[in-house]
Amino acid sequence: MRIAMIGTGYVGLVSGACFSEFGTDVVCVDKDSSKIDRLLAGEIPIFEPGLDKLVANNVAAGRLSFTTDLATAVKGADAVFIAVGTPSRAGDGQADLTFVRQAAKEVAEVMEGYTVVVTKSTVPVGTGREVAEIIRATRPDADFDVASNPEFLREGAAINDFMRPDRVVIGTLEPRAQEVLRELYRPLYLIETPIIFTQLETSELIKYSANAFLAVKITFINEIADLCEKVGADVHDVAKGIGLDGRIGRKFLHPGPGYGGSCFPKDTTALAHTAREKGSPVRIVETVVDINDKRKKGMADKVIAHCGGSLEGKKVAVLGLTFKPNTDDMRDAPSIDIVPALRAAGAAVSVYDPEGIEEAKKVISDVTWCENAYDTMPDADVLVIITEWNEFRGLDLGRVKSLMKAPSMVDLRNIYNPAEMANAGFDYESVGRPS
Ligand code: UGA
Repeated sequence: MRIAMIGTGYVGLVSGACFSEFGTDVVCVDKDSSKIDRLLAGEIPIFEPGLDKLVANNVAAGRLSFTTDLATAVKGADAVFIAVGTPSRAGDGQADLTFVRQAAKEVAEVMEGYTVVVTKSTVPVGTGREVAEIIRATRPDADFDVASNPEFLREGAAINDFMRPDRVVIGTLEPRAQEVLRELYRPLYLIETPIIFTQLETSELIKYSANAFLAVKITFINEIADLCEKVGADVHDVAKGIGLDGRIGRKFLHPGPGYGGSCFPKDTTALAHTAREKGSPVRIVETVVDINDKRKKGMADKVIAHCGGSLEGKKVAVLGLTFKPNTDDMRDAPSIDIVPALRAAGAAVSVYDPEGIEEAKKVISDVTWCENAYDTMPDADVLVIITEWNEFRGLDLGRVKSLMKAPSMVDLRNIYNPAEMANAGFDYESVGRPS
């Protein structure tokens, strides 16, 4: 088996490396020659634990290669995966399919023999059919099928998610295409992973529905957390108390400053848009999008209230900027709303993030960038935890206290225990728990 992976962004690179680990020959293609040069030099352009080793091992084994030449990668490949970017279009928030369409056309021009063209990028319902039409219009003689194979990887845990997924969804009912994809995922059959074959449109909608449902879960627990604060309840006990019901499940019930990242914000907005366009609005998702946007902005108000209603002339130390730990990804990170709002309220802000500083500098300005957690703290009036990196879980509280003007913390990820923080002398506030 040989496949071509078009696009070496997050999904393309992880999927390409993992398929090669399964024993398939994989050629990854990208138009960006500087990206390909870096990959050829053994450099991984994204931060994902374990990916560097996986890429190096499979390159050394001769199963994984990188090129800017789409034609040689696609000619004779059993399957071609389209994993190019689908950014949110400015204005209406709908996914921008320019790169997908372009890839479909270029693939059509050069493919040889029977080829399965697989959309791996998250694409609106109907895109698979459109890709098929583009290929047919470009090459009326082409022998191909189009399938959808959405990705359910989480950043920071992507390799494990690929190698041991809860399920694989494949959107094609064409027997020849199913056979090729079944062969590609053979190692997962051996570990009894459920593999679901559906129609193209169903598979496309499964991806959006999964992300939207998880976003609903997070938003639900965030609103319950707010209510907990009003009535003196503990949101973690509520989450456990409901989550032990197998119909609800315990995961994705951790409260925080609102979901961010490259997927949930983009996919919820796109789903809401498609649904409205089709005359069947998904109002729960529209509401979730609105609540989450407001929540991110509202987290600065929580800090202001904690500091007695004003940040004028005060210093705020911020730990964590990325949308979640173990990534350098700043896309739609809550910090992008929170930090400027702290500045606008009159605070001087010092920030630290273990991996995200470089990316953060592109979207956050007018702050003091620090080299480590403790450097943010001298004379700070309050310490705010925005992202739950492991290294923030075990801070030396004595040292924190001695550095800050007064021991005060707003923990937006609930990584500390309120009773312990009170004992340590901190004016401590978290999300949805009695202080
Ligand atoms: C998400 C999905 O979890 C993946 O299954 C999916 O494949 C991926 O999007 C995608 O569509 O590509 P990811 O964005 O990497 O993965 O990150 P998550 O771990 O799901 O976290 C998303 C956001 O939700 C983060 O901001 C996180 O802090 C927040 N979150 C998550 C919570 O606030 N509470 C939770 O309980 C869980």
